[in-house]
Amino acid sequence: MPATVIVGAQWGDEGKGKVVDLLAERSDVVVRYQGGNNAGHTIVRDGETFKLHIIPSGILYPGKLCVIGNGTVVDPGVLCGEIDALEERGISVDGLRLSSAAHLIMPYHVLLDGASEMRLGRFSIGTTRRGIGPCYQDKAARVGIRAQDLLDPGILVRKLEIALEQKNEWLQKLYDMRPLDPKAVADEVLGHAERLRPFIADTSLLVNRALDAGKRVLFEGAQGTMLDVDHGTYPFVTSSNPVAGAACTGAGVGPTRIDGVLGVAKAYVTRVGEGPFPTELDDEAGRHMLEHGHEYGTTTGRQRRCGWLDLVALRYAVRISGITEIALTKLDVLSGLDTLKVCVAYETRDEERLGELPDNQTTFHSCRPVYDEMDGWSADISNCTQIDDLPPRARAYVERIADALQVRITLIGTGQGRHQVIEPTEA
Ligand code: IMP
Repeated sequence: MPATVIVGAQWGDEGKGKVVDLLAERSDVVVRYQGGNNAGHTIVRDGETFKLHIIPSGILYPGKLCVIGNGTVVDPGVLCGEIDALEERGISVDGLRLSSAAHLIMPYHVLLDGASEMRLGRFSIGTTRRGIGPCYQDKAARVGIRAQDLLDPGILVRKLEIALEQKNEWLQKLYDMRPLDPKAVADEVLGHAERLRPFIADTSLLVNRALDAGKRVLFEGAQGTMLDVDHGTYPFVTSSNPVAGAACTGAGVGPTRIDGVLGVAKAYVTRVGEGPFPTELDDEAGRHMLEHGHEYGTTTGRQRRCGWLDLVALRYAVRISGITEIALTKLDVLSGLDTLKVCVAYETRDEERLGELPDNQTTFHSCRPVYDEMDGWSADISNCTQIDDLPPRARAYVERIADALQVRITLIGTGQGRHQVIEPTEA
């Protein structure tokens, strides 16, 4: 499909990096449309591991246009660090472009993210403390700093003065921290300006022109549906819209240009940070997922919470993002579990059975999962390359998911390496 959106269908960390990496090879353009360096992609290529947080993973292929869209928030220091790290390993970043309208994460955003989490105490969100929320806050409040401001030092200082007037009040009075000097912040930020200048562009124009020319474009979502600020488990969410619809606003293309939506889901579920998670496990099966799936965050190193596959939440993700295909990742991690459970409904405190995700936060917090049990398999599946190579019970598990979602599973991950994948063809 010429224009495909890739979205996380759970709480992030579904293994989108590997899927994007695979599909990027067959695409001309890869666009990040929201989020910032709260995301993290680990890509294993020829035994070499790459960890990217803001640059689209398509950069590892020469000749691709890799766009950081207007809907993202970008920490200039982090972006420069990633560019340097790639170049040091001999990878060209010539194809990288940063939207002139993308908002920049300023040092005070990072300070405020951490301070606000501390202040919330036991009510904290569990953010990545990268300044993501405060940066989006400033965007909506219209006091944000954008990539294009790096190109005009006079404007940058004026904008920083305006933004810091209020931020310094917060830093001092609310959080007992030292105020920041606008000139010093400007100097720090401008230290990255020359490095970033060649990449700053009207990326909406570039992407639309690529589509006009019949190029294949991948829109790469970060985080996942359940972390969406509108459709996720608010307030335990990120501050942007990871859902597929946001690819349009976050890249500057119209909805009529999108051809399909690939939802990425793990064969089980993980979540980092706080918030409800009906199928969360605190037993041997959960520890199996944690250890065999190496479920530690790419960005913060935090241990991820693990649980059984939640078909109610996954069906919700299919609905919210109009998912047309599913990539099911990390199926190999389930090898060795005697019994597998899949959540097919929720039960409320009043013993009401729900087949759909409740739209009320209090109800959702008290939902208990209703499970179907399936037999597990013991064989190592990490070398399976065809659907028929899978043990019958693994195939039954995959079919159960496709059946519940009424969406075709077009990719199955069986290991970390980029070739450890099955691409079932239509029967
Ligand atoms: P923030 O995006 O740093 O503001 O964090 C808000 C919530 O989103 C927290 O629960 C984070 O753990 C979660 N989050 C943010 N980015 C990711 C991600 O890439 N994967 C998984 N969870 C994430």
